[in-house]
Amino acid sequence: MKRILVVATVFTFVLLLNSFTEENPYFIITKKDVELKIPKGFEQPAYNFKTNPLSPEVFVLGRKLFYDPILSKDQTISCSSCHQRIAAFAHIDHPLSHGIAGLIGKRNVAALQNLIWKDSYMADGGVNNLEVQPINPITNAIEMNESLPSVIKKLQANKEYVAAFQSAFSDTVVNSERLLKALAQFTGLMISSNSRYDKYINHDEKFNESETNGLNLFRAHCENCHKEPLFTDNSYRNIGLKPDTALNDSGRAIITGLQSDYMKFKVPGLRNVEMTYPYMHDGRFKNLKQVLDHYANGNFFTSNYDHSIDRNKGLTETEKADIIAFLKTLTDKEFLYDRRFADPNFR
Ligand code: HEC
Ligand code: HEC
Repeated sequence: MKRILVVATVFTFVLLLNSFTEENPYFIITKKDVELKIPKGFEQPAYNFKTNPLSPEVFVLGRKLFYDPILSKDQTISCSSCHQRIAAFAHIDHPLSHGIAGLIGKRNVAALQNLIWKDSYMADGGVNNLEVQPINPITNAIEMNESLPSVIKKLQANKEYVAAFQSAFSDTVVNSERLLKALAQFTGLMISSNSRYDKYINHDEKFNESETNGLNLFRAHCENCHKEPLFTDNSYRNIGLKPDTALNDSGRAIITGLQSDYMKFKVPGLRNVEMTYPYMHDGRFKNLKQVLDHYANGNFFTSNYDHSIDRNKGLTETEKADIIAFLKTLTDKEFLYDRRFADPNFR
């Protein structure tokens, strides 16, 4: 009898212990989770992971880094402080980004989605490679204000990270190349391609009348820049926004030095646009109605604005509402709630 009791106690104890240490399946990343699937209708991506082979361990390391303030100087700001999952990794409600020590940035936080199809990043295209992109926020004085050597030192001194690097790369070397590759796997797999619009295109979903009108209007008025299926042609355009004299952001001209590039900004992909408010490089418009009013009012500033937007002048209230109804079909709940991109600190 006593023996049975001992065995039973040990058994319960082991069970209990297991339930504490076992990983929540929600956060487990398998080989299948990191397969790169090119959605129907999308072209081959610019960044293809050839020199950064996708693996669950590297992806998990990237996820850990993305959600960890260890990347900032005073350990207060993580990538996810600015890039919120529920906003397609943009930042709801902040026109301009908020960085270290409460400092306010110069641009609206960009959504992170379908990045591997981009040939340049940032509103001015100042970065041309997904892998080097994180150096920018990490070293930016008003974002994370850190240096790569110092980040690497902190990671090397951290047992959990040494183990995570080892499981990702088969040895304990912690260096910036590996750090950047891991972040590129995590952000590069943020692919949005399962919105109602996609289902409509694949004949799995119907649009109502307003959405159908909206799509037709969109194709006539907006498509030349916001090209399907990514809703960007990756070009830089000036859409006649009034220059903000306080921010003094000249856009693409900062990079090229050309007067003709003044106030040109990268055409943003509009997927999940319902969730990524406020809008434009400086977050000046609070909602989609204000964006449509801008295009329809025809009150365009600066001489080099792109005259193809002139055709939007005079869009009626109903037409604007239809376009907005269509834009909302680009919301992709499967992406916004994709467990692979959830914060692992809450497991
Ligand atoms: C302080 C806020 C802040 C932090 C922290 C931050 N970002 Fe960003 N991120 C931004 C802003 C703002 C932009 C848009 C900048 C621009 O257009 O000039 C951006 C742009 C990007 C882009 C380019 C998106 C595109 O389509 O062009 C990527 C990728 C990115 N961030 C990844 C990261 C990663 C990875 C980290 C962590 C290492 C990070 N960010 C940390 C604010 C932040
Ligand atoms: C001449 C090219 C062009 C045309 C035509 C155009 N856009 Fe844009 N659109 C842009 C550019 C460039 C930006 C980014 C400007 C900035 O960041 O300041 C933008 C920004 C936007 C944004 C804000 C996205 C964000 O995440 O901040 C929305 C929404 C939008 N456009 C919708 C439309 C709609 C709807 C139409 C048609 C009525 C349209 N656009 C026509 C080039 C264009």
